[in-house]
Amino acid sequence: MTETRKPIISGNWKMHHNHFEAIQTVQKLHYRLENDDFDLVDVSVHPPFTDIRSVQTVIEADRMKIELGAQNCFFEEKGPFTGEVSPTMLAKLDVKLVIIGHSERRQFFGDTDEWVNKKLKAVLGNGMIPILCCGETLEEREAGQAESKVDSQIRSGLDGLIPDHVSDMVIAYEPIWAIGTGKTATSGDAQMMCAKVRSVVADVYGNDVAQSVRIQYGGSVKPGNIVELMNQADIDGALVGGASLDADEFAAIVQFNQH
Ligand code: PGA
Repeated sequence: MTETRKPIISGNWKMHHNHFEAIQTVQKLHYRLENDDFDLVDVSVHPPFTDIRSVQTVIEADRMKIELGAQNCFFEEKGPFTGEVSPTMLAKLDVKLVIIGHSERRQFFGDTDEWVNKKLKAVLGNGMIPILCCGETLEEREAGQAESKVDSQIRSGLDGLIPDHVSDMVIAYEPIWAIGTGKTATSGDAQMMCAKVRSVVADVYGNDVAQSVRIQYGGSVKPGNIVELMNQADIDGALVGGASLDADEFAAIVQFNQH
């Protein structure tokens, strides 16, 4: 983390919390956080699609500073795409950030690098900020291919984007073997990979863009490991799964400055 990039901590709720539970969790999070916290850190929650309208209503009614996010979307605006949700629909619900290319989407739902690229363009085209996910499997790490995997995911993900859009984006480095496993990358390994991500952005878009893009680490982030992660120069935030479902635990992560 550096002084110039504002940290961003995002809660990826995955397929958890129905809309009643989502409302309760966001309200509890709002009460646990102080106004000052939002001066220091951007905070977003990414509920399932069925919860988004409910959470939007609560955020607006209570003028919360928590930002509304989504976990995915399709790249077309409308059409015969049964089961899909368009970026236009999300923007209409005041969604600000959309996670794109999460490893679970790539693994279970067939999201390819090409689709990830189209989705990024669609999200940006609708005035929202994408959180582009990248990361290697355990086999790739053990074979010494972690850096080349992330390098190619970033290059193909960002292909054809304009520099201004890339500056505003968030990229999440999430080693797949650390997601939901309780195993976190060491802060040194996480830093090395986030620095790698930044260097790829610099290679394609130049140093100014690379210095402004915010890079999150994701994979078993907890109140007990967030401080060390945030102390790394190229880690500007966290994408938090399991620990974001509980408002107390997520608030403790957001308030890493106070530990
Ligand atoms: P986790 O998930 O914090 O439960 O490991 C992170 C993610 O998949 O975004």
